[in-house]
Amino acid sequence: IKRVTTHTIQELKNKGEKISALTAYDYSMARAVDAAGVEVILVGDSASNVMAGHETTLPITLDQMIYHASSVVRAVKRALVVVDLPFGSYQGNSVEALRSAIRIMKESGAHAIKLEGGHEIRESIVRILSAGVPVMGHLGLTPQSIYKFGTYAVRAREEAEAAKLMTDAKMLEDIGCFGVVLEKIPAALTKQVSQTLHIPTIGIGAGPDADGQILVIHDMLGINNEFKPRFLRQYADLHSIMKQAITHYVDDVKSKDFPNEKEAY
Ligand code: KIV
Ligand code: NA
Repeated sequence: IKRVTTHTIQELKNKGEKISALTAYDYSMARAVDAAGVEVILVGDSASNVMAGHETTLPITLDQMIYHASSVVRAVKRALVVVDLPFGSYQGNSVEALRSAIRIMKESGAHAIKLEGGHEIRESIVRILSAGVPVMGHLGLTPQSIYKFGTYAVRAREEAEAAKLMTDAKMLEDIGCFGVVLEKIPAALTKQVSQTLHIPTIGIGAGPDADGQILVIHDMLGINNEFKPRFLRQYADLHSIMKQAITHYVDDVKSKDFPNEKEAY
């Protein structure tokens, strides 16, 4: 199989084909996502929420991200694997940012990294790119800044914040990022940014005009059924299916139906 690279997803934008992306955090899930033909697999710091049960993405560590990323990389034959730099591993110190990015690339075998923010982290991004590591940007509702925002409401509804987002997006393209995630911003702004930039935009809660779409796999499969924002399309109700199967198992053990003769040696 031909591997997806940063160039592949640029070509998809160039020819007007939408890019599909999903998160994954472990080997078995990544195998399914890759086999289904998803082009970009993000090992998101949303692992902090859906894998570890934290309320925010802030607590997850670089070591934990590397553990998730290496599990995903072992499963993937085709997709481009992008890994989030976690909170505290890149802000305000570009040397530390590069060290964190290099640890992810070396210890997990992933293909690219993603970090949140615009001009504030410009120096970190430039340094990581200089080392030959592809970088994806992330603008809009950046969850590592949730305590600054104070709310998970849509970002950049006001002209000033929208203008800043556009400036940041252009800057990310100018310094050499290969793509930008746009999270929870008005659809009209996503359209403007996607038409202005040459590099692909990947949207979540950002409307139909991003060059690609991403969702958190536990949300779209209904494994996590505690989070149902308007932008989420839930493709399955796996929480119910899992609970039903497990209840059945408990009943079979209690009733001594399991194991039967054929299931014993
Ligand atoms: O961590 C994550 O899952 C993300 C995506 C939602 C873009 O950053
Ligand atoms: Na993230």
